Amino acid sequence: MLATGSVILDRGLYFTKTSGMRSYCVSFRVPGEVLEGTFLSVDGPTRSIRPVSAADGPADTAQLVVGGNGHPVGRSDSEAAAVADLIAWTTEHFPGAEETHRWSAQDYESHNQIPFVGALPRGLGAIRFATGYAKWGLSNAPAAALRLTAEIIGVPWRERSGWMNTIGTRLTIPADLAKGAVEGAKVAAAATSGWVEAESRKVPVPAPDEGEGVVANRAGLPVGVSTVDGVTRAVSAVCTHLGGVLAWNDAECTWDCPLHASRFAPDGRRIEGPALEDLKELPRSGRAG
Ligand code: FES
Repeated sequence: MLATGSVILDRGLYFTKTSGMRSYCVSFRVPGEVLEGTFLSVDGPTRSIRPVSAADGPADTAQLVVGGNGHPVGRSDSEAAAVADLIAWTTEHFPGAEETHRWSAQDYESHNQIPFVGALPRGLGAIRFATGYAKWGLSNAPAAALRLTAEIIGVPWRERSGWMNTIGTRLTIPADLAKGAVEGAKVAAAATSGWVEAESRKVPVPAPDEGEGVVANRAGLPVGVSTVDGVTRAVSAVCTHLGGVLAWNDAECTWDCPLHASRFAPDGRRIEGPALEDLKELPRSGRAG
């Protein structure tokens, strides 16, 4: 059973059929009455607001959680700016709000927002998977689990609930194919621009400021140089999945892949798939990268 966010076996190429999205949440202490209810904006950029209840933890820690500013992994000019924008929006609409915590999440969505659930191709029916919950994991994950359980214990189709058959049946319509083609074009553009950009900056590069990272070219190969907690490191900036050139995430100090959303720590350790291998840590050349 593969329940790994992105499907870690390449059979079925599901990493090309889903997009990895990162989004942000910030919790706040706010003066006065806290609004009741949960809200989601209908327009962009997304704003999602919910109060913190006593069941969530001590009420004096935070009273409000605001989320939003999602974007495809590795395709943002500045993730830190996305968080700063969320905070600025909140303090404008909730004067006196003070940040208590911030965090982010990674979700996968299919081109038509319906999860993929079922048997993995070329797995002889022995490997099942579920992915693409599109931020609705609280409902889509149990639904996927019920569908997979029904498959495994052999509940006949006609005895399953209607939704159970819908969630595991791929209906491909022209609009979905068009969305898939657009995403494919964006992936192809990111694949090319990463290599071109890396080509334009040669090592050695000056050691980046704290929390920053740059990609440069060493003997024709992209190398990622970053400084985190006072340590400047160099790693291969080529994703170990299918060779995407990684981009620095300045909110979380990670190397993120703009192609299929793998992520790596500054020392090259893998954080998220579909990549299965760490990045190679490289010696630094000269005084810096
Ligand atoms: S995740 Fe596929 S190339 Fe990086």
